[in-house]
Amino acid sequence: MPDVEITNLSKTFRDFFGRRRVQALDGLSLSLRGGEVFGLLGPNGSGKSTTFKIAVGLLRPSSGQVTINGHKPGSLAARRATGFLPEDSTLLPFLNAAETLRLHGALAGLDRATAAKKADELLERVDLKHAGKRRVKGFSKGMQRRLGIASVLIADPDVFILDEPTSGLDPLGAVLVKDLIADLRKQGKAILISSHLLGELENVCDRVAFLNKGKLLREGTLDELLREHDVHELRLSPPDPEAIKALAALAAEKGLKIMSSRAPMRTLEQFYIKILGKDES
Ligand SMILES: Nc1ncnc2c1ncn2[C@@H]1O[C@H](COP(=O)(O)OP(=O)(O)O)[C@@H](O)[C@H]1O
Ligand SMILES: [Mg+2]
Repeated sequence: MPDVEITNLSKTFRDFFGRRRVQALDGLSLSLRGGEVFGLLGPNGSGKSTTFKIAVGLLRPSSGQVTINGHKPGSLAARRATGFLPEDSTLLPFLNAAETLRLHGALAGLDRATAAKKADELLERVDLKHAGKRRVKGFSKGMQRRLGIASVLIADPDVFILDEPTSGLDPLGAVLVKDLIADLRKQGKAILISSHLLGELENVCDRVAFLNKGKLLREGTLDELLREHDVHELRLSPPDPEAIKALAALAAEKGLKIMSSRAPMRTLEQFYIKILGKDES
């Protein structure tokens, strides 16, 4: 079973003269297992990308350690096991989308035929089939992001480390990426993702951690952190006025306070997906 263990991780960036400059991480510990999506949340500069870069061996920690399936970041075993999406896309502008995926497939050790077949499937999966022959140079930020994610998927790693995977995506693109992440979870992959936008991770993470100035503020399942235990919400359909009146009277009789009773509002996101989600080409 894949796993990521981050233990007491600290990172201080120093300047050219070796003076301490920024403490980006301060004693961060967390762990995740296969079949789990873990979200790192925090404002800009809170240390999310630094954590990820250490986890994939691009940066060395000042102290503490990360292991991927028990292996040190940067080791061959850890690199084989991990797929990394950096926060800034690093696609080659002169390749087209299909070539980009085939290149990543080849780098992951796939033979030509398999790489080509998987590239086609993934283009379909990230809704870029229509743009497979177009150069990446002309892609919008959202298209580049989706192609970036497909490039990570083609190697079929055990552990996914995705830095702000939904950044730059419109709501439908974000839903597509969240669906992909849900699929990976079902396949038993371990998935570590970050965002500085809180709502983005809400319905995709099993657990989240809040990071601020390199320190973990809180960690838990969404249920543990967000469930309100001192109120109860009841949704009725159809909203029969007589029945509602009777329920309100019963509540009053029991000495309960009705905090709200009204037709609920959809969120703008739900509305947007409803009007654009169906017949988009
Ligand atoms: N290579 C670097 N050199 C110096 N400081 C850095 C470097 N990379 C990140 N930092 C600093 O470390 C802190 C955390 O950055 P980062 O991990 O990128 O945050 P986040 O991804 O949460 O926005 C910030 O204050 C940032 O300026
Ligand atoms: Mg970042």
